[in-house]
Amino acid sequence: MLKINNLHAYYGKSHVLHGVDFEVQPGEIVALLGRNGSGRSTTAKAIMGLVDWEGDIEWKTQRLDGKKAFEIAHLGLGYVPESRDVFPNLTVHQNLLLGQKGRGKGSRWTFDDMYAMFPRLKERQHTEAGVMSGGEQQMLTLCRTLMGDPDLIIIDEPTEGLAPKIVELVGEYLKKIKERGVSVLLIEQKLTIAMRISDRALVMGHGAIVFDGTPQSLNSNQHIRKEWLEV
Ligand SMILES: Nc1ncnc2c1ncn2[C@@H]1O[C@H](COP(=O)(O)OP(=O)(O)O)[C@@H](O)[C@H]1O
Ligand SMILES: [Mg+2]
Repeated sequence: MLKINNLHAYYGKSHVLHGVDFEVQPGEIVALLGRNGSGRSTTAKAIMGLVDWEGDIEWKTQRLDGKKAFEIAHLGLGYVPESRDVFPNLTVHQNLLLGQKGRGKGSRWTFDDMYAMFPRLKERQHTEAGVMSGGEQQMLTLCRTLMGDPDLIIIDEPTEGLAPKIVELVGEYLKKIKERGVSVLLIEQKLTIAMRISDRALVMGHGAIVFDGTPQSLNSNQHIRKEWLEV
């Protein structure tokens, strides 16, 4: 459903993606792994129309070149960036409301779903988003994205800086998202949850995909792990 072919991306004159190829099928959790600076976030930004790119990105048979970021989001691609992305002066509830983007009726997700998945957000529904902790703002960013009813979400390093117990929780909610038929492109550096919940693993190195296979085959591929993942 998402098909990426020979993707190149640039920050000004700096050429950082060098022919990225991969696909995400409906209902799949695909982990995009790699060290810092390997080009994972840039890949996400290219898909979402947030960086200059060349090549082919196809989403449900539509080509995404020339489309603006808001148009891409309206086509059912959800993006949870590394930096939290909440409206600090609005309450939790108001943030979720804005996430609906007119897709309230017939959406897979309701406010109650979000509050059931994240009781902490329910407790804080009338609190201004800006005063919450980093972790809570991250949850809210994810929930706001889900309220737009995407068919695929791209989530960039959701476990960064979280305690191991919370990392487990992240794995659980990503599985719940998949159970509702939403595909997930999970950007991570560590193998921990990626290996447990993904259907497929991609490894990036120097702006290209250097491995594409099952988590089990990655686990047994010491060469790839040593060369491109372990620090
Ligand atoms: N805004 C930017 N301007 C210039 N170079 C950037 C910018 N963001 C990232 N880069 C460079 O692009 C490369 C890929 O970065 P990035 O996609 O953020 O990697 P990752 O997410 O895998 O850590 C790195 O060399 C990084 O320094
Ligand atoms: Mg990154």
